[in-house]
Amino acid sequence: MQEGGKNWKAGIAEMSARLTIAIDGPAGSGKSTVARRTAALLGYLYLDSGAMYRAVALKALERKIPIEDEAALEALTRETRIELRPPTPEQETAGLKNRVFLDGREVTEEIRKAEVAQAASRLATIAGVREVLVAEQQRAGQGGGVVMEGRDIGTVVFPKAELKIFLEASAETRAQRRWKEHQEKGDKFSLLEVLQEVRERDKRDRERKVSPLVRAADAVLLDNTAMGIEETARLIVFLAHEREAVHT
Ligand code: DC
Repeated sequence: MQEGGKNWKAGIAEMSARLTIAIDGPAGSGKSTVARRTAALLGYLYLDSGAMYRAVALKALERKIPIEDEAALEALTRETRIELRPPTPEQETAGLKNRVFLDGREVTEEIRKAEVAQAASRLATIAGVREVLVAEQQRAGQGGGVVMEGRDIGTVVFPKAELKIFLEASAETRAQRRWKEHQEKGDKFSLLEVLQEVRERDKRDRERKVSPLVRAADAVLLDNTAMGIEETARLIVFLAHEREAVHT
Protein backbone atom coordinates (compact mmCIF):
# COMPACT_ATOMS: atom_id res chain seq x y z
CA MET A 1 0.00 0.00 0.00
CA GLN A 2 2.74 2.36 1.06
CA GLU A 3 4.88 1.30 -1.87
CA GLY A 4 1.96 1.96 -4.22
CA GLY A 5 1.57 5.43 -2.68
CA LYS A 6 5.23 6.18 -3.29
CA ASN A 7 5.03 5.11 -6.93
CA TRP A 8 1.97 7.21 -7.44
CA LYS A 9 3.79 10.24 -6.04
CA ALA A 10 6.88 9.54 -8.14
CA GLY A 11 4.65 9.29 -11.19
CA ILE A 12 3.11 12.68 -10.48
CA ALA A 13 6.57 14.21 -9.92
CA GLU A 14 7.73 12.82 -13.25
CA MET A 15 4.64 14.14 -14.97
CA SER A 16 4.93 17.63 -13.56
CA ALA A 17 6.81 20.11 -15.67
CA ARG A 18 10.22 21.29 -14.57
CA LEU A 19 10.05 25.05 -14.64
CA THR A 20 12.52 27.79 -15.31
CA ILE A 21 12.41 30.18 -12.36
CA ALA A 22 13.95 33.63 -12.74
CA ILE A 23 14.78 35.61 -9.61
CA ASP A 24 15.95 39.19 -10.11
CA GLY A 25 16.58 41.99 -7.66
CA PRO A 26 19.14 44.46 -6.33
CA ALA A 27 22.28 43.68 -4.30
CA GLY A 28 21.48 42.37 -0.84
CA SER A 29 17.83 41.59 -1.59
CA GLY A 30 18.48 38.01 -0.46
CA LYS A 31 18.38 36.64 -4.02
CA SER A 32 21.20 34.13 -3.68
CA THR A 33 20.11 32.62 -0.38
CA VAL A 34 16.46 32.55 -1.38
CA ALA A 35 17.21 31.16 -4.87
CA ARG A 36 19.51 28.47 -3.47
CA ARG A 37 16.94 27.42 -0.86
CA THR A 38 14.11 27.43 -3.42
CA ALA A 39 16.16 25.21 -5.74
CA ALA A 40 16.93 22.82 -2.88
CA LEU A 41 13.26 22.56 -1.90
CA LEU A 42 12.21 21.88 -5.49
CA GLY A 43 15.16 19.63 -6.40
CA TYR A 44 16.16 22.11 -9.10
CA LEU A 45 19.58 23.33 -10.21
CA TYR A 46 20.66 26.69 -8.77
CA LEU A 47 22.62 29.06 -11.01
CA ASP A 48 24.08 32.41 -9.93
CA SER A 49 24.52 34.58 -13.04
CA GLY A 50 26.24 37.37 -11.04
CA ALA A 51 29.08 34.94 -10.31
CA MET A 52 29.85 34.91 -14.04
CA TYR A 53 30.19 38.72 -14.17
CA ARG A 54 32.32 38.55 -11.03
CA ALA A 55 34.60 35.84 -12.50
CA VAL A 56 35.30 37.85 -15.67
CA ALA A 57 35.82 40.98 -13.55
CA LEU A 58 38.39 39.14 -11.43
CA LYS A 59 40.26 38.06 -14.56
CA ALA A 60 40.20 41.65 -15.90
CA LEU A 61 41.54 42.98 -12.58
CA GLU A 62 44.31 40.36 -12.55
CA ARG A 63 45.31 41.27 -16.10
CA LYS A 64 45.03 44.99 -15.29
CA ILE A 65 42.71 45.63 -18.23
CA PRO A 66 41.18 49.10 -17.78
CA ILE A 67 37.41 49.05 -17.39
CA GLU A 68 37.14 51.65 -20.20
CA ASP A 69 38.66 49.25 -22.74
CA GLU A 70 35.39 47.69 -23.87
CA ALA A 71 36.81 45.86 -26.90
CA ALA A 72 39.52 44.18 -24.81
CA LEU A 73 36.98 43.20 -22.14
CA GLU A 74 34.61 41.71 -24.68
CA ALA A 75 37.48 39.72 -26.21
CA LEU A 76 38.52 38.61 -22.72
CA THR A 77 34.97 37.39 -21.98
CA ARG A 78 34.88 35.42 -25.25
CA GLU A 79 38.07 33.55 -24.38
CA THR A 80 37.01 32.83 -20.79
CA ARG A 81 35.56 29.55 -19.54
CA ILE A 82 33.30 29.79 -16.51
CA GLU A 83 31.77 26.82 -14.80
CA LEU A 84 29.23 26.80 -11.95
CA ARG A 85 28.95 23.72 -9.75
CA PRO A 86 27.06 22.89 -6.53
CA PRO A 87 29.05 23.69 -3.35
CA THR A 88 30.74 21.11 -1.13
CA PRO A 89 28.98 20.56 2.25
CA GLU A 90 31.73 22.68 3.92
CA GLN A 91 31.26 25.51 1.43
CA GLU A 92 27.50 25.30 1.90
CA THR A 93 27.96 25.68 5.67
CA ALA A 94 30.23 28.69 5.04
CA GLY A 95 27.37 30.32 3.10
CA LEU A 96 28.76 29.73 -0.43
CA LYS A 97 26.06 28.81 -2.90
CA ASN A 98 27.79 27.97 -6.18
CA ARG A 99 31.34 26.83 -6.78
CA VAL A 100 32.83 29.00 -9.47
CA PHE A 101 35.65 27.92 -11.78
CA LEU A 102 37.45 30.46 -13.94
CA ASP A 103 39.36 28.73 -16.76
CA GLY A 104 39.51 25.64 -14.54
CA ARG A 105 40.73 27.46 -11.39
CA GLU A 106 38.40 27.67 -8.40
CA VAL A 107 37.61 31.32 -7.54
CA THR A 108 34.52 30.73 -5.36
CA GLU A 109 35.77 32.88 -2.49
CA GLU A 110 37.93 35.38 -4.38
CA ILE A 111 35.02 36.71 -6.44
CA ARG A 112 33.17 37.75 -3.26
CA LYS A 113 35.61 40.59 -2.50
CA ALA A 114 34.19 44.13 -2.53
CA GLU A 115 36.56 45.34 -5.30
CA VAL A 116 35.47 42.45 -7.53
CA ALA A 117 31.80 43.33 -6.92
CA GLN A 118 32.42 46.93 -7.99
CA ALA A 119 34.39 45.86 -11.07
CA ALA A 120 31.63 43.36 -11.99
CA SER A 121 29.00 46.08 -11.79
CA ARG A 122 31.10 48.23 -14.19
CA LEU A 123 31.84 45.34 -16.53
CA ALA A 124 28.12 44.54 -16.64
CA THR A 125 27.44 47.85 -18.42
CA ILE A 126 29.29 46.62 -21.55
CA ALA A 127 26.88 45.27 -24.19
CA GLY A 128 29.42 42.90 -25.82
CA VAL A 129 30.28 41.31 -22.46
CA ARG A 130 26.61 40.82 -21.63
CA GLU A 131 25.92 39.22 -24.99
CA VAL A 132 28.55 36.52 -24.38
CA LEU A 133 27.48 35.84 -20.79
CA VAL A 134 23.75 35.81 -21.58
CA ALA A 135 24.32 33.14 -24.25
CA GLU A 136 26.34 31.15 -21.71
CA GLN A 137 23.53 31.48 -19.12
CA GLN A 138 20.90 30.39 -21.63
CA ARG A 139 22.96 27.29 -22.40
CA ALA A 140 23.44 26.50 -18.71
CA GLY A 141 19.73 26.79 -17.95
CA GLN A 142 18.27 25.10 -21.00
CA GLY A 143 15.80 22.31 -20.35
CA GLY A 144 14.23 23.82 -17.22
CA GLY A 145 14.39 22.60 -13.65
CA VAL A 146 16.53 25.61 -12.77
CA VAL A 147 16.41 28.62 -10.51
CA MET A 148 18.62 31.34 -11.96
CA GLU A 149 19.21 34.61 -10.17
CA GLY A 150 20.56 37.93 -11.39
CA ARG A 151 19.41 41.30 -12.69
CA ASP A 152 18.03 40.52 -16.17
CA ILE A 153 17.00 36.88 -15.95
CA GLY A 154 13.25 37.50 -16.33
CA THR A 155 13.71 40.29 -18.88
CA VAL A 156 16.57 39.13 -21.15
CA VAL A 157 18.01 35.70 -20.32
CA PHE A 158 14.73 33.79 -19.90
CA PRO A 159 11.92 36.13 -20.97
CA LYS A 160 9.65 33.07 -21.26
CA ALA A 161 10.41 31.74 -17.75
CA GLU A 162 7.25 30.21 -16.27
CA LEU A 163 7.84 31.93 -12.94
CA LYS A 164 9.53 35.29 -12.44
CA ILE A 165 10.20 36.85 -9.06
CA PHE A 166 11.46 40.37 -8.45
CA LEU A 167 12.89 40.43 -4.96
CA GLU A 168 13.08 43.75 -3.11
CA ALA A 169 14.06 44.97 0.36
CA SER A 170 14.82 48.44 1.70
CA ALA A 171 18.37 49.74 1.04
CA GLU A 172 19.02 49.87 4.81
CA THR A 173 17.99 46.24 5.28
CA ARG A 174 20.06 45.14 2.29
CA ALA A 175 23.12 47.01 3.57
CA GLN A 176 22.66 45.46 7.00
CA ARG A 177 22.61 41.96 5.48
CA ARG A 178 25.77 42.64 3.44
CA TRP A 179 27.48 44.21 6.48
CA LYS A 180 26.73 41.08 8.51
CA GLU A 181 28.26 38.93 5.78
CA HIS A 182 31.42 41.11 5.82
CA GLN A 183 31.59 40.88 9.62
CA GLU A 184 31.39 37.08 9.48
CA LYS A 185 34.29 37.06 7.00
CA GLY A 186 36.30 39.42 9.23
CA ASP A 187 36.14 42.38 6.77
CA LYS A 188 36.19 45.69 8.62
CA PHE A 189 33.70 47.84 6.71
CA SER A 190 31.39 50.20 8.58
CA LEU A 191 27.64 49.90 8.04
CA LEU A 192 27.65 53.36 6.42
CA GLU A 193 30.36 52.30 3.93
CA VAL A 194 28.34 49.22 2.99
CA LEU A 195 25.17 51.31 2.60
CA GLN A 196 27.03 53.66 0.26
CA GLU A 197 28.40 50.73 -1.74
CA VAL A 198 24.93 49.19 -2.05
CA ARG A 199 23.43 52.52 -3.20
CA GLU A 200 26.23 53.10 -5.71
CA ARG A 201 25.82 49.63 -7.24
CA ASP A 202 22.03 49.94 -7.27
CA LYS A 203 22.24 53.21 -9.16
CA ARG A 204 24.63 51.78 -11.77
CA ASP A 205 22.64 48.54 -12.16
CA ARG A 206 19.32 50.37 -12.53
CA GLU A 207 20.51 53.23 -14.77
CA ARG A 208 22.79 51.45 -17.25
CA LYS A 209 21.68 51.53 -20.89
CA VAL A 210 21.95 47.79 -21.59
CA SER A 211 19.66 45.42 -19.68
CA PRO A 212 19.15 47.62 -16.62
CA LEU A 213 17.74 46.11 -13.46
CA VAL A 214 13.98 46.42 -13.95
CA ARG A 215 11.05 44.29 -12.96
CA ALA A 216 9.62 42.27 -15.85
CA ALA A 217 5.96 43.19 -16.34
CA ASP A 218 4.92 39.63 -15.48
CA ALA A 219 7.24 39.20 -12.46
CA VAL A 220 5.80 38.75 -8.98
CA LEU A 221 7.10 41.61 -6.79
CA LEU A 222 8.17 40.24 -3.43
CA ASP A 223 9.39 42.69 -0.77
CA ASN A 224 11.16 40.66 1.90
CA THR A 225 12.27 43.53 4.16
CA ALA A 226 10.27 41.98 6.97
CA MET A 227 10.48 38.36 5.86
CA GLY A 228 12.98 35.60 6.59
CA ILE A 229 14.77 33.49 3.96
CA GLU A 230 12.77 30.34 4.67
CA GLU A 231 9.44 32.18 4.51
CA THR A 232 10.39 33.84 1.20
CA ALA A 233 11.65 30.58 -0.35
CA ARG A 234 8.53 28.66 0.71
CA LEU A 235 6.31 31.32 -0.81
CA ILE A 236 8.19 30.96 -4.12
CA VAL A 237 7.88 27.15 -3.91
CA PHE A 238 4.13 27.56 -3.41
CA LEU A 239 3.93 29.75 -6.54
CA ALA A 240 6.10 27.22 -8.43
CA HIS A 241 3.76 24.35 -7.57
CA GLU A 242 0.83 26.40 -8.89
CA ARG A 243 2.68 27.06 -12.16
CA GLU A 244 3.85 23.43 -12.42
CA ALA A 245 0.22 22.33 -12.31
CA VAL A 246 -0.64 24.76 -15.13
CA HIS A 247 2.30 23.65 -17.29
CA THR A 248 1.89 19.91 -16.79
O1 DC B 1 24.47 39.42 -7.96
P1 DC B 1 25.88 39.93 -7.78
O2 DC B 1 25.98 41.01 -6.73
O3 DC B 1 26.86 38.83 -7.54
O4 DC B 1 26.30 40.59 -9.20
C1 DC B 1 27.51 41.26 -9.42
C2 DC B 1 27.30 42.35 -10.48
O5 DC B 1 27.04 41.73 -11.75
C3 DC B 1 26.14 43.28 -10.21
O6 DC B 1 26.54 44.53 -9.70
C4 DC B 1 25.47 43.48 -11.54
C5 DC B 1 26.01 42.42 -12.43
N1 DC B 1 24.99 41.47 -12.89
C6 DC B 1 24.28 41.80 -14.02
O7 DC B 1 24.44 42.88 -14.55
N2 DC B 1 23.39 40.90 -14.53
C7 DC B 1 23.17 39.73 -13.94
N3 DC B 1 22.29 38.87 -14.48
C8 DC B 1 23.86 39.40 -12.76
C9 DC B 1 24.77 40.30 -12.25
